[in-house]
Amino acid sequence: MRNLDPVHYTCPDIHKADVQSVFSNTWQLIGPASRLAERGDYIATEIAGQKVFVVRAKDGLRGFRNVCRHRGARLLPEGTGRCSTIRCPYHQWVWGEDGSLLNVPWWGDDPDFEMSDWALDGIEWQVWRGLLFAAIAPAMTLEDQLGDTVTELANEPLETFHWVHEERLVFDANWKIYTDNFVEGYHIPGIHPAFHAAIEFEEFQTTAHDGMVRMTAPPREGLFYRGKWLWMWPNWTLSLFDGGMNTSRINPIDHCRTELIYNFYFADLSEDAKPARDKTIADNLAVVREDFEVCLETQKNYESGGYRAGPLSPRHEQGVAYFQQRLLEAQTG
Ligand code: FES
Ligand SMILES: [Fe+2]
Repeated sequence: MRNLDPVHYTCPDIHKADVQSVFSNTWQLIGPASRLAERGDYIATEIAGQKVFVVRAKDGLRGFRNVCRHRGARLLPEGTGRCSTIRCPYHQWVWGEDGSLLNVPWWGDDPDFEMSDWALDGIEWQVWRGLLFAAIAPAMTLEDQLGDTVTELANEPLETFHWVHEERLVFDANWKIYTDNFVEGYHIPGIHPAFHAAIEFEEFQTTAHDGMVRMTAPPREGLFYRGKWLWMWPNWTLSLFDGGMNTSRINPIDHCRTELIYNFYFADLSEDAKPARDKTIADNLAVVREDFEVCLETQKNYESGGYRAGPLSPRHEQGVAYFQQRLLEAQTG
């Protein structure tokens, strides 16, 4: 097994192709469906630079491109909020929550202009076990994309975990460098000494499955994790704690910049448990941040031309091989 050629991490044209072959046609984790509980609640985000939003309309959720049909302005600011209609900030065109164009102010006489021609472009959405996914042009069903994840999580009480916190982290490396890093535990002794001390590293196991990489290690005393970490094709993760979980989406901003969108969920929302929740979130994010420097420096080495693809460990880098294999399959259609 060989690592991917560094050109995959540094070439803007390959990145552009990945946006089409990996991000436009897969289901992307948007966040907890519970954040869209009331009519007008929306989440606006990007899928590899493509702006989208999902909104709760009168009769259920609706997903759209966050792109004005007039001259292309962004309709809703990124993040969550509540709207009664969707008004473009540029020239004030207004759409209903079903995407139909309702008002075009100051337009002038135009016999050829039909309001019905300029509805918002829709995207697909689906809720799976409380998690909201969206897709611009999905090549397969969400269940098919999830593959073995469905049975892996069948006995975990995900629905009993309530959303508590979202955190966005940005770093200067290609999304694939961070993914390669996430799907192996090989770097834990070198990069995460405290985490290393809190698990039985000799028993760390990594296995690749349909649509998923599973990593497990028996936790020692004091580890907030439960010792199971999952990564799902193409770019989301789920880790379990005692009484909760986190999810993340690894979203490229461009070929050398990535955002992580982390969400934390807990079963116990009581005030008494708040210090424990806060500590779990802080400890978890500290481990996440420990990976950034090695990803940045690796990105620089790939950019420099000073690296040729090296070997992958059969014991620890099965996940890296699986991710890279899926990537090459997606690139060749
Ligand atoms: S770009 Fe949106 S109304 Fe003009
Ligand atoms: Fe790490």
